[in-house]
Amino acid sequence: MFRLARMIHTKCRDIKIPYLRSNVFRTPVPEDKVPWTVDWPEYKPAEYTSESLKGKPWADPEDPRNLQFNEIDGNVNRKSHFCVYAFDNDGRPLNPIGRTGLRGRGTLGRWGPNHAADPIVSRIKNGKLEFVAIKRHDNGEWAIPGGMVDPGENVSQTLRREFTEEALGNVPAENLEAFWEKGTELFRGYVDDPRNTDNSWMETVVFNFHDEEGLLDDCRFEAGDDAAGVGWIPIDDKVPLYASHRDFIQFLKEKHGKC
Ligand code: BGC
Repeated sequence: MFRLARMIHTKCRDIKIPYLRSNVFRTPVPEDKVPWTVDWPEYKPAEYTSESLKGKPWADPEDPRNLQFNEIDGNVNRKSHFCVYAFDNDGRPLNPIGRTGLRGRGTLGRWGPNHAADPIVSRIKNGKLEFVAIKRHDNGEWAIPGGMVDPGENVSQTLRREFTEEALGNVPAENLEAFWEKGTELFRGYVDDPRNTDNSWMETVVFNFHDEEGLLDDCRFEAGDDAAGVGWIPIDDKVPLYASHRDFIQFLKEKHGKC
């Protein structure tokens, strides 16, 4: 498994644009003030939790105090992949990487970790390493076709389901059973996602499924509801990728020793 170099989040400290689908701007957080261990008594970040979370079955209640943090809470995994996280004075989980300039949950459903899974489906075509990417609706960036782990679901189910929903337009691809069994884990941990806040953040598990036999060569991809486009894209440093996906693709390159 690969590890990220010392993680200082940047995409969730962006002050040039408002937080996703809002007019709320983050409070600027200079890099040296990111760690909670650096004293900053004047830090009073903006607060934002999207109204769209209210009453949603997949979202936590407004009051976090009765939730079983750092545990498997019923069928919701509230454990972090990489640490036991701490809390602020209101009982809200604290982002383990540090300050983001925004309190609340933003558009994320869970207080604390929000778990995703990312399948990198790759192949070598004409000597070049390629992977299946989707174009995201929310910010137009290319991304691995991953998604959120549903309550009670395990990561391997999510990887398969998300790829089917987002890249295969829900048409079940035949003969892929053995292909899905042969994935290898590339990464597990924190994601520098633009939606992260001081109290809610994204974590993911990244698996690589490498198509050695050309099983997917004739496969017709179709963008699902969450995607505006889908297809094989070459590993190219110039294409901007969502959140920490560039790092994950770097791990893929290191694994296959190609570009
Ligand atoms: C995306 C994943 C991504 C995760 C963290 C999810 O919404 O579907 O691809 O890794 O967010 O950014």
